[in-house]
Amino acid sequence: MRKPIVGGNWKMNRGTPNETVEMLESLIPQVEGIDSVDIVIATPFTVLTSAYKVLKNTDIKLGAQNMYYKDKGAYTGEISPQFLKEIGVEFVILGHSERRDIFKESDALINKKLKKALSMNLKTIVCIGEHLEERETGKAKDIIQYQINETFKDLSKEEMIKTVIAYEPIWAIGTGKTATPEQAEEIHMFIRDLLSLKFDKETADSIRIQYGGSIKPDNAEDLFNKNNIDGGLVGGASLQANSFFQIIEAADKSIR
Ligand code: 13P
Repeated sequence: MRKPIVGGNWKMNRGTPNETVEMLESLIPQVEGIDSVDIVIATPFTVLTSAYKVLKNTDIKLGAQNMYYKDKGAYTGEISPQFLKEIGVEFVILGHSERRDIFKESDALINKKLKKALSMNLKTIVCIGEHLEERETGKAKDIIQYQINETFKDLSKEEMIKTVIAYEPIWAIGTGKTATPEQAEEIHMFIRDLLSLKFDKETADSIRIQYGGSIKPDNAEDLFNKNNIDGGLVGGASLQANSFFQIIEAADKSIR
């Protein structure tokens, strides 16, 4: 039985200490009774410390949205995994499509970051997903297969089990155009089959695969009810405590 995981990816949308604290203080009492879902909030780097102060005595886990694969050095503008650990970060999102597309991160770079994060005992959420044109030309599964092979290259079974995968079809991100539960489930099953071939069935069955892309309170439950969808990575709807809580509640219901 896989424990669902719901992550809030704030992207560059909420960045002042006050609004961070306000949102989290409103979320904490709402999720208090929920222990069947892992909850992660990934804030911008600049408010991680503010978020940590509010979250440290709760079950909500703190996440970062990116990191570099070196401990320290002359890498202007980058953030070291060591720095993240020192301020209480537990999770890091890697390979988000916005990092891949806008900042030209390659699968090879994401693979280096992933190995580094795992070696530092940071938990990872690794994003994969196809563009609209790739889906429309029937290449979605080829793209997913390529990303799985390259991003998870040379990972051991033990490392892979510690990794959460987020399937985020790029055409569904921030567009209001969610994948249907059937479309998402088809790719999630495909991912699990690939993992089963690459590792083994037991490993594949224990890896959590989140869906991401325009998840809202009114579509979350149908998505999470699918067998291979183990929660979600939420952008826009994670910015408000109420909508994020309703999505967490949907994940909680999906396992009952
Ligand atoms: P939206 O929920 O805003 O579509 O964003 C999804 C996403 O990119 C989460 O990482």
